[in-house]
Parts: sequence; C-alpha cells; structure tokens
Amino acid sequence: MKNFSASSLLTLSCALLAASTAQAQSSDTIKVGLMLPYTGTFAQLGVAIENGFKLFVQEQGGALAGKKIEFFKVDDESEPSKGIENANKLVQRDKVDVLIGTVHSGVAMGMAKVARDTKTLLIIPNAGADAITGALCAPNIFRTSFTNWQPAYAMGLVAAERKHKSAVTITWKYAAGEESVKGFKEGFEAKGGKVTKELSVPFPTVEFQALLAEIAAAKPDAVYTFFAGAGAVKFVKDYAAAGLKDKIPLYGAGFLTDGTLDAQGDAASGLLTTLHYADGLDTPKDRSFRLSYAKTYKLQPDVYAVQGYDAAQMLAAGLKAAGGDFSKREALIKGMELAKIDSPRGAFTLSKAHNPVQDIYLRKVENKENKMVSVAAKGLADPARGCRM
Ligand code: PHB
Repeated sequence: MKNFSASSLLTLSCALLAASTAQAQSSDTIKVGLMLPYTGTFAQLGVAIENGFKLFVQEQGGALAGKKIEFFKVDDESEPSKGIENANKLVQRDKVDVLIGTVHSGVAMGMAKVARDTKTLLIIPNAGADAITGALCAPNIFRTSFTNWQPAYAMGLVAAERKHKSAVTITWKYAAGEESVKGFKEGFEAKGGKVTKELSVPFPTVEFQALLAEIAAAKPDAVYTFFAGAGAVKFVKDYAAAGLKDKIPLYGAGFLTDGTLDAQGDAASGLLTTLHYADGLDTPKDRSFRLSYAKTYKLQPDVYAVQGYDAAQMLAAGLKAAGGDFSKREALIKGMELAKIDSPRGAFTLSKAHNPVQDIYLRKVENKENKMVSVAAKGLADPARGCRM
C-alpha cells in the first residue's frame, strides 16, 4: 500500500471538504445564467428582461421553491457569431443550471445548439426564431415570449380586414425580420392581400432613406415592418420625416413601439401594431406587476420586462413541481410544460413545442401608450412546423 505523508493527507481532506461544501452550496442554490444584450441596439431590451426576471425572484423573497438564486451574466452584444462561445462561458465555465436568453434570434440559435448538446435547460425570454419551437424543438428548451410568426400573422389578418390590397414590407435582413415578414404575408395573403415588394437593410443598420424613397414611389396601400429597440426609434422617426406617415399607413409587429415611445415622440402617434402585450389591459395581475416594476426600477415596464418576469415564473413552476430539486429533471420539465403562467399579458399555457399559446392584441399609440384596441387573434398557437416532440 502506498504511503501518504501527513501533508498530502491534509491536502486530500481539504479537497474533500471543499468538494462537499460546493455540493451543499449547489443544492440550496440555483445558478441562473443570464445571456442578454447589454450593449448595442437591443441593450435596453436586455436590461428590461433582467429587471423583470429579478422582480419575480424578489417578490418571492429572493428564492424560488426554497432555492436561492445566484446570477451569472454575459453580454451577448446581439452578435450571432459569438453566440455559441458566449453560451459556453455560462455552461462550461460558470456551470449554470439554467440558461436565460436572449433577445436576438440569431444569437438564440447558438444558445439552443449549446442547450441541445449539453442538455442544459434553456428558457428564452424574447428571441422569436420560429425553428427553436419548430423543427429544432427539444424537451429542455422553453420560451416565454412568442415566435416571430405570431404577432406578424395576426397583423396580416388585421391589414386585410382594414381593406388594404397591397403592402410593401421593410425590415432587417436576419431571421427575426424575415420570419416576421413571412408571417405577415401568410395572414395578409390568406385574406386576399398581396405583398408586392420585400425590402431590407442589414442588421443593425439604420440607413433607411433609399428604401423610404422606394416605398414612396411604389405607393402601396400599406407598409408592414419589423424593427425593435434603437432601430425602431430611428425607423419610425424617419418614416414620419419622409412625409409618409399620413400617406401610407404603417403597421408593425408591436416591438416597433414597445419601450420606444418616449424616444419616438409624435412620430409614433396613431400607429397600429400587434403584440401579446398592451397598455391598459386593466387586469389585477397587470396592475400589480406594473406598480411593483415602477416602484422597484422607477421605470414603466414593457413587453420585454413581462417576458423576463414570466421566465422566472416558468422556472419557479418547474422547481416547485420537482420539490426544489433541480436533479429531478423529468418532474421539473413536466412542471414547466403543464404550468399556467399568471402573466401580466393574461394567463397563458405552453404548446407541445414549448411556446406560449396566447392572445395577440391590436394596439394603437395614444399619449405615449400602446393602448389595447381589440384582440386580433385569440389563443394563437404557432404552427410549430417540423416539431416532433
Ligand atoms: C429577434 O431577434 O427575435 C427579436 C429581436 C427583438 C425583438 C423581437 C424579436 O423585439
């Protein structure tokens, strides 16, 4: 038998003690990895999601199902080429239990790949990439936001109901913009409209002048657009400054005017958009959420804050079903799948593909608010094309 010196035995026992302490810590703490944009055109959106998530945790006294939450953060910069590397920082380096992120569809595709490869639980609090709850759906991947198809399809129906026959679309050339246009086109053309031209600029460019001139020359009945964050602010202002606002009605997925109205000013007033959230829903849950958010952050919440809040609610539902034991994976996932989330947007459940089945509201900008006008599509489920689960 090998002889151990006193000092090597001491080293060994210290190491064992450290390992067991780490285990004890990990079992009363859940490590949450926030991968969000904290710089760039979507920076504000990332902050709102984090605020929303932390608000729910705070309301539960800082713990979910009795587990303390420890946060790890990465700024993904809305940079798809770094998506996999950034997700791996949280999974491999920080050893998080769950990934929360992100805003940009292209970056989320990288996160979904890492989640699939490492079987890490992923909850997406914004990015709408259709494939993530479509052909690439997976048991450990959930979304508390929307698919790019959902609000866009509803707006296609609305534009057709408003008797428009032709529309030009304009967006960023990346997954979210392209899928949003596709969704709009599907709804609009099913009801007899026709998309006559699809225009785009590279993400995150905000040079719109040449394309606005093209729209003015084409004179469609309507324009449909997907922009968000700082890009949405610039587009809405440029559309009005080009003199188009009173000539050709502008419709958008609601990201166009969510969290952006202070910066857009009068240029946004009267715009109609569709989204799974709106101002003036006037439900007890929404009222209490807005009050609590405003008190905590001295800011008004927007759709991103709601989605972050609901990501924490979804995690809590899973943890509760697993009795707070993260290793009880099946129970955790079942708990999330069956959860009815009491969201400020209105309660929602998940589809088989793990995407919210939810009402899409038609909203109108009035007095710097996205006032609810009507429900444009009741209980709308994404078609989840290609999902086998
Ligand atoms: C997306 O890239 O999926 C995306 C980004 C910003 C939004 C909505 C969707 O506001």
